[in-house]
Amino acid sequence: MSAPAFPELPAGFRFGVATAAYQVEGAHDEDGRGPSIWDTFSHSSGRTLAGATGDTACDHYHRYGEDIALLRGLGVDGYRFSIAWPRLLPGGTGPVNPKGLDFYDRLIDGLLAVGIAPTVTLYHWDLPQALEDRGGWRVRETAEAFAQYAALAAERYGDRVERWITLNEPYCSAFLGYAEGRHAPGAEEGRGALAAAHHLLVAHGLAVRELRAAGAQEVGIALSLDRIHLASALPEDRAALRRAKVLHNEVWTEPLLAGRYPVHEAETWAGLADGPWRLPGDLELIGAPPDFLGVNFYRPVTFAAAPHREAAPERRTAVDIGVTELDRYRSRRTTMGWPVVPDALTELLRELHARYPRLPPVWITGNGSAEDDTAGLDGRVRDTARIDYLADHLAAVADAISAGVDVRGYYVWSLLDDFEWTHGHGQRFGLVHVDHDTLTRTPKDSYHWYRGLITAHRAQAEEPAR
Ligand code: BGC
Repeated sequence: MSAPAFPELPAGFRFGVATAAYQVEGAHDEDGRGPSIWDTFSHSSGRTLAGATGDTACDHYHRYGEDIALLRGLGVDGYRFSIAWPRLLPGGTGPVNPKGLDFYDRLIDGLLAVGIAPTVTLYHWDLPQALEDRGGWRVRETAEAFAQYAALAAERYGDRVERWITLNEPYCSAFLGYAEGRHAPGAEEGRGALAAAHHLLVAHGLAVRELRAAGAQEVGIALSLDRIHLASALPEDRAALRRAKVLHNEVWTEPLLAGRYPVHEAETWAGLADGPWRLPGDLELIGAPPDFLGVNFYRPVTFAAAPHREAAPERRTAVDIGVTELDRYRSRRTTMGWPVVPDALTELLRELHARYPRLPPVWITGNGSAEDDTAGLDGRVRDTARIDYLADHLAAVADAISAGVDVRGYYVWSLLDDFEWTHGHGQRFGLVHVDHDTLTRTPKDSYHWYRGLITAHRAQAEEPAR
């Protein structure tokens, strides 16, 4: 399949693909793995679509050899996966599970054997249940336990891992998990989630320290950052935009990238900066400059002041900061209902670049689309909508680079159709189709397209300058 070249992308630009442990591994109670909050949550009635769980997911724990072969066929430079904390430390702290350690040795060695660099996420939402039982992210002990876990992983795998991501999308862990209850552990504690947000940031800071002490090459974090559009020029909508930016982006980016708390925090949820959870030195710990920033991006959002006449009641955000999401985009939607607006990614990257003089190199650590992928009679999955989505977002990245943003690489979300959290098996993000009954993997057209693009980019980069 022919792939468009992206001459605008620099020669050394790196291409990858991503997954996460709970979404693909399965083997939830095998070889000594302890339970995580997502096991408990997905097994609770009514939490996920059709009661789906990650018990089997894509069975990657057993089929990782086949998945490495798929990665090799794809020709990616890097593979981003996460380690399941409860596989290494079934109780969160305490005894180490040797079989868990061995699994990631096999995976990492298998990747290196075919020339693929591992990018490891330490926390992609699967907190050991034992730690949740002791307070979860509400308490500082969890951040300290995370640091010990990071040290263990760094000591064992540090010689072979190219890039470490401490946390994936702490927004979801803190606010969906502890404020709205839409994600595990399902707590609806409103602004109580600020303690979780702070402890996640502290966990990141402590883990960075451990990883660096163990000689890690590159350490960063992956944030889901929103490009937020203004609903109108009315002062109340401008103020709503500011509040939404604080909650969605700046709670994370200000301490991490500028060593300060959000300027407009008081207009949102006064307290992050002055809560009892903050100890002297925390801001310095959190603000130690990361080697890179991971940005996960899927769609833009528009927020207006609430109540707002255009907003259907269900579009109101559950975290009550007097803001409502407007559904204003005329573009195509993915099956998640998300509008496809690639320019919003360029805008977001430019905004970050303009705001943070200390912005480190950026990696797009998650970008992709869920589509209605059905195989044709010939077994082929013609996912042209996904190909368009990926091509347009890569072009958006190229535009950001032309505008001066230092973006080093891009990971497609995702390699496989996996367990999509509360959507269970109802959403397909993969370049590879997975039959959830037989677990058969079938590369989609987008897989072949991405391979072609990577090959074309490499060939172009290797051409002698004329
Ligand atoms: C999350 C994934 C999720 C994807 C699609 C990503 O940014 O990290 O876990 O499957 O978004 O919703």
